[in-house]
This record gives sequence, C-alpha cells and structure tokens, in this order.
Amino acid sequence: MNAMNEAISNIGVVPVIKLNHPERDAAALANALCEGGVPVAEVTFRAAGAATAIKLMSQAQPDMLVGAGTVLTTGQVDEALAAGAKFIVTSGLDPDIVKYCQAKGVPVYPGCSSATDYHTAFKLGLEVVKFFPAEQCGGLAKIKALSAPFPMFKVMPTGGISLKNLKDYLSCPVICACGGSYMVTADLIDNQKWDEIINLCRESVAIVKQVRGNG
Ligand code: 3PG
Repeated sequence: MNAMNEAISNIGVVPVIKLNHPERDAAALANALCEGGVPVAEVTFRAAGAATAIKLMSQAQPDMLVGAGTVLTTGQVDEALAAGAKFIVTSGLDPDIVKYCQAKGVPVYPGCSSATDYHTAFKLGLEVVKFFPAEQCGGLAKIKALSAPFPMFKVMPTGGISLKNLKDYLSCPVICACGGSYMVTADLIDNQKWDEIINLCRESVAIVKQVRGNG
C-alpha cells in the first residue's frame, strides 16, 4: 500500500465531517480528534465552508491527515488542494476525477458499490476504494462477495457504521479503515461537545487495537 493508504489503515477509522461553523469549530474539532487518537478527517463539501474547514483544521494540526469528501468536480479538487487537503474522497466513481487526482499525485478514494465500479477502479490502478453507502449497499456480506473476484482491493466502508458494528467491519481482512460520522455528528459539533468526541474517538481506537491484536 502507498504511504497514505498505510497511514489511514493504521488509524483504522475516518471521521466524516460536515462543519456548519468552520471559523468557530474547525480548530477545536481537529484538536479533539487528535487528542482522541484519530488524526484523520474527511471534510465533506456538503457544507459551504468545507475549504475553510480544511484550511483551519490543517493549521491547527499540521500533521493531521485532513482530506476532502463528497467531492463532485475537478474544481472542488483544486479548491480542496489549495486549502491543504491531503486526500480526496468521492461518493461515486468518476474516472475523470480519479485521473485528475492521479495526475496531481494526490490519493483519491472513490465510492464504489458494485462489480462494475470495482472493475473500473481496477482499470484506474487504485489500491483502496471507499465502499459507499456500506450498510445500505449490502454491508460486509457484499464487501466479502466482491473481494472474491477483486482480491487486489482494500476497502474503506462508509455509511451506517457505528460503535455497534465497527468491530465486525474491522475484523474483515479486506477492510483498510472504516469511515463514519458517528463520532462527529451535527449535534456533537454544533453543541461543541469536544469531550464526547474525544471519548468516541478513544472507544473507536480501542476497537481498532483490539481487532488488530495490539490493544
Ligand atoms: C459519507 O458521506 O461517507 C456518509 O454520509 C457517512 O455516513 P454515516 O453518516 O452513516 O456515517
């Protein structure tokens, strides 16, 4: 695996973030995630201030892996990179965006959920794909079924993952890391419940360590 894939895999969970008040909350959120042992974030372009959030989180925690999610256009790739994004996540598989990121040398994780998507991802030379929306698309059973013809992929499932099923997902050897908003919900962020976010991160990290045999 390349360095970014390795780094994300080592952390094991990727908070999926929608920040409504980046100026107010981005730095505090970055600090909370790092304090909780989860120095990575997918900051989604679903919120208007996503680029600002990426910039402020990266400034607060320069070693943190802050990436952009829900990226829909190459213009948003540029916006994300200018703000300091270290990786790009898309909800679906758009070969144009994947090739654009590859040409710029930035890791990209497109959402895949079918054999057709995996086949296209294979042609694009990807090693890790996002599996989205994981629970709604068939969950672990589908991930396992797809890994039979496509054993070359590591998978980052996102969608419907929580502390309840995190262990099951991480126990599957094809899983690189699990994405989710459960530790960074709108309620937690908008009400600045940083201690709860830290605790949810720590609980997640404990599960990662337990599954991987070093906790
Ligand atoms: C995503 O964009 O990856 C998902 O919306 C996150 O899904 P979740 O909120 O169910 O964790």
